[in-house]
Amino acid sequence: MSSHIRITPSILNADLQNLSAEISKIASVSDLLHLDVMDDRFVPNFTFDFESASKIISQSPLPVDAHLMVADVDSIAIEYAETGAASVTIHVEAVKDIKSTLRGIRRAGARAAIALKPGTDIDRYSNFIDDVDMFLIMTVEPGFGGQKFMADMMEKVRRTRAIIGSRPIWLQVDGGISLETIEIAREAGADTFVAGSAVFNSDDPAEMINLLRARAERE
Ligand code: DX5
Ligand code: ZN
Repeated sequence: MSSHIRITPSILNADLQNLSAEISKIASVSDLLHLDVMDDRFVPNFTFDFESASKIISQSPLPVDAHLMVADVDSIAIEYAETGAASVTIHVEAVKDIKSTLRGIRRAGARAAIALKPGTDIDRYSNFIDDVDMFLIMTVEPGFGGQKFMADMMEKVRRTRAIIGSRPIWLQVDGGISLETIEIAREAGADTFVAGSAVFNSDDPAEMINLLRARAERE
């Protein structure tokens, strides 16, 4: 496979009290910064409200990939795009009007993406392909970092790669990505990899990103 590999580290497992120091550790080797926004409604965990997320987005030296795990996502998703996120991902399970929200995100200048929880089938969503810049196939149940990679999601990744065909749409996986699992996801067709605990629980986060990238490129 020849498409470009992207590593998008998640700061969920970083030291949130020293975020700018944490981000500067990985800035030169990462493609985008993956920002997990959780509202304690769509998922049983809370990370940032819009105000603090906006602050991170405006101060980040890296373009931000905002993964919105929030209920009633339609209008807030567009606000994330307006506040400067480079990419905004909405969960299909949380959105009311997929098409108009994706279009609103793009209109505000961001890439528009849809995420699918492990139990959600991709085929129902293939008809939104013209409004999508990235598909995110969750490889854990959203809500927490440090969970085990669900290898049984690889069939969905393969199916999504087939749906994408030759379009320049990114295919992201999120959850449990490590040196042990990244090649499996790459082989199935993913090209954009979120890694949280593998990066921030390592002694050298930048080196870990380089190693992950090298593994994915080897495939
Ligand atoms: C889970 C989040 C992930 C998570 C990844 O709901 O969307 O981005 O932080 O963390 P790891 O890589 O530890 O599974
Ligand atoms: Zn995420």
